[in-house]
Amino acid sequence: MASSTSLCYGENLMSAIVHLRAREILDSRATPTLEVSLTLEDGTEARASVPSGASKGKWEAFELRDGDPTRYAGQGVLKSVALVEGEIASLVAGMEASEQAQLDAALCALDRAYPEGSETSQQEGCLKSYLGAQACLAVSLACARAAAVSLGIPLYRHLGGVEARTLPVPMMNILNGGAHANNTLAVQEFMLVPSGASDFPDALRMGTECYAALKSLLEAQGLSTSLGDEGGFAPSLKSTQAALDLMMQAIDKAGFKAGADATLALDCAASSYFEGHNEKHENKHENKQRYALDGVVHDGESYLALLKSWIKNYPIVSLEDPFAEEDWQGWSNATEALGDKVQLVGDDLFVSQEERLRQGLASGAGNALLLKPNQVGTLSEAMSCGRLALYSGWGCVVSHRSGDTEDSFIADLATGLNCGQIKTGAPARSERVAKYNRLLRIHEELGSEARYKWSGAQSGAQRGGQSGAQSGGASTGVLAGRGGLRTCDKV
Ligand code: PGA
Ligand code: ZN
Repeated sequence: MASSTSLCYGENLMSAIVHLRAREILDSRATPTLEVSLTLEDGTEARASVPSGASKGKWEAFELRDGDPTRYAGQGVLKSVALVEGEIASLVAGMEASEQAQLDAALCALDRAYPEGSETSQQEGCLKSYLGAQACLAVSLACARAAAVSLGIPLYRHLGGVEARTLPVPMMNILNGGAHANNTLAVQEFMLVPSGASDFPDALRMGTECYAALKSLLEAQGLSTSLGDEGGFAPSLKSTQAALDLMMQAIDKAGFKAGADATLALDCAASSYFEGHNEKHENKHENKQRYALDGVVHDGESYLALLKSWIKNYPIVSLEDPFAEEDWQGWSNATEALGDKVQLVGDDLFVSQEERLRQGLASGAGNALLLKPNQVGTLSEAMSCGRLALYSGWGCVVSHRSGDTEDSFIADLATGLNCGQIKTGAPARSERVAKYNRLLRIHEELGSEARYKWSGAQSGAQRGGQSGAQSGGASTGVLAGRGGLRTCDKV
């Protein structure tokens, strides 16, 4: 319950942090992760937990693990528990929960001032290398949630202010490959995008009906319907094309029109099938990038031609990590060739960090950011990276991790940022469904104020320098699909 005084910024603030408690819990892959409970002076208590990736970007913030082989194969997080209840608790005690930026800046400063000879290791060039991303993020998210409760407003409203009312278009990962499945598919995620839905509940229904249709198609063909890490099916298929064909059949079988009602998105996670880093660094003019998938080893040029053929033959609106995290040249070439037709999302490339995103903005590599708060380690840093993308006219997709928890924070984050896109797996497995269900509740709460529209990133030229997404969706969304660009105004 909010106290009346806590609503008066600047005087008699009652939302000072008084207590932190941390615990080791499990994520959806049976790996330990961190949860933090944070208590305020007014009695408010809020909890937050953090996810973990499997196909991590090389430049992600440091993930601290105990390394004790006698517990959870070294994956325990008791060091993080001790850091939260020790140094971090002393640091943040007395801070106002509504002053998120101040709290996050203090966490970053403490991380940089790591003590000599400290037990946890400083990894060179790696953010949060002393405290670990988990401790920083769990405290940061719990603080935001506590502030919202104390202020008596929904979390998305606290994060985004009065204009926070765009429900994100879900990119539903219904067919899994790569590091998230033990099948032979190189491409990691085949996502269904209900871009033609009228609102978020309709989108969720459409995506779920396509998911069910895909299951019956797999059963009919005697293929496995076991699930990958993000809840999508993980059958053994011969090629990317076979997977894309199945997605198209599922859309059709569910009674929708591919390209109009539903479109497709891929997360290639291409770093996992990229070869030739060394050659590239020795002589970058010698186009020695190699992408090995579907039994063929492609050079940069033939790989780009392959991507073009996918986009030509299927209604693909978004391609995430189509090139490897160190292949800036490949990214720039692809953006020049495809950036006006399809959203090109940098996940491993940008790792939700402003510095790397600025490099992408300057070199024309990509036109959208994948935003995973644990890649950078605090809420403020994640939000300012998301805003930088949106204010630059780029797309921004808020994302879960393949190892996740029941915490639905990212549903509020996507709504708060008005970014219009979320990636949170298949409509199956409770850690994924928790985010979808939270979005249904947000939709209900917003009532007629709720907005839903597809607004995938396009090139600056296409958008005319205008960034519609961050303005709350008042502008016309642009849909890239089969047959080129067309507008899709659902405001
Ligand atoms: P991860 O995968 O959480 O395993 O990194 C998600 C993604 O690559 O987008
Ligand atoms: Zn990814």
